[in-house]
Amino acid sequence: MARILFNHVYKRYGKYKEVAVKDFNLEVEDQEFLVFVGPSGCGKSTTLRMLAGLEDISEGEIYIGDTIVNNYPPKDRDISMVFQNYALYPNMSVYENIAFGLRLRKQPKHEIDLAVKRAARVLEIENYLDRKPRELSGGQRQRVALGRAIVRTPQAFLMDEPLSNLDARLRVQMRSEIISLHRKIGVTMIYVTHDQVEAMTMGDRVVVMNRGVIQQVDTPEQVYNKPVNMFVANFIGNPPMNFIDGRIREEAGKLDFHTNRFKLRLTEKQAYHLRKENLVDMTVVLGIRAENISFDEIVMEAFPDSVLTGILQFNEFLGSDRYYHMDIGTEQTLVVRAHPRHHYDDGTKVTVALDMNKALFFHKTTGVLLTD
Ligand SMILES: Nc1ncnc2c1ncn2[C@@H]1O[C@H](COP(=O)(O)OP(=O)(O)OP(=O)(O)O)[C@@H](O)[C@H]1O
Ligand SMILES: [Mg+2]
Repeated sequence: MARILFNHVYKRYGKYKEVAVKDFNLEVEDQEFLVFVGPSGCGKSTTLRMLAGLEDISEGEIYIGDTIVNNYPPKDRDISMVFQNYALYPNMSVYENIAFGLRLRKQPKHEIDLAVKRAARVLEIENYLDRKPRELSGGQRQRVALGRAIVRTPQAFLMDEPLSNLDARLRVQMRSEIISLHRKIGVTMIYVTHDQVEAMTMGDRVVVMNRGVIQQVDTPEQVYNKPVNMFVANFIGNPPMNFIDGRIREEAGKLDFHTNRFKLRLTEKQAYHLRKENLVDMTVVLGIRAENISFDEIVMEAFPDSVLTGILQFNEFLGSDRYYHMDIGTEQTLVVRAHPRHHYDDGTKVTVALDMNKALFFHKTTGVLLTD
């Protein structure tokens, strides 16, 4: 049983009691794979370190199972952690470093040997078992730290950016190793990253943080498709969601989103929400992802009331997709995803259609999502 619960947890650092984590409330289910994601300095490591017992909790309680662990030392929390700044024992070989925790627990030698070798194979460090940490590259050291954590089966694994020093290929490979490790041993896992792709591909649920405050806790699909505010919409997904400022106007009983260059017809559902919030004649922000905008005639015929024209500035070819950056005469540019077979020259004037069913509307000042 390793349900983990954060109850109104705060962290204040230093003389000025600066708030690093604010009113953090979260229930992590037993065996869940949860990812904390957010920009640098948003409080991810601090939260994890409070759970591991490496940092005092300024206010609130943390439960592991049914026990409040606030005053438990790290060793009594039965948690295995891989740090952002991993520390290996410099005088021990790679083998000894990985085996260390198991030896402390007095496991039989042959079991330790099996566990270490299995971990080394998975992490592709079998050939370095006799070396000292100083004889390894940063990425190899990081894998030793990972190995030391995964030979144990604790109540929970905490991983703080454990792949940050690896090259792109190893990163993807280790990502799937960690996912399959989790499937196999079914232990509760909290994984910290500032990489939203890592968060989306690994987590059962994702916790998006900003400035010490949880913004949204949801499945990857939900944070991508239904971000609760503009911060999440901007942080999750690459390219980030397009935002356009405009005013809501009523015409013959229908609502339109107006800029000084074009207008887009709202769906009935969107109109319902914006009316309810008294936002007719007010400025709001329309959000739409690059893949929900199209150059195709068929889409334009399907959405004749939501087309707009602009000038292509430049495009990015990514192999499977091509992203066009388009000047639409407002302050914000629009990024449009297209199949790579499309090729327009920079400077071309083009018309695109927006799939308004996929458009979201946000409050101009608070950034909160207004529609669903
Ligand atoms: N020991 C400390 N004393 C004072 N302030 C600290 C301390 N450790 C962290 N902070 C501050 O707390 C905030 C959160 O830091 P934290 O390390 O949790 O961020 P993070 O989300 O892990 O960022 P990163 O992605 O860069 O690792 C930051 O503003 C940081 O400057
Ligand atoms: Mg950190």
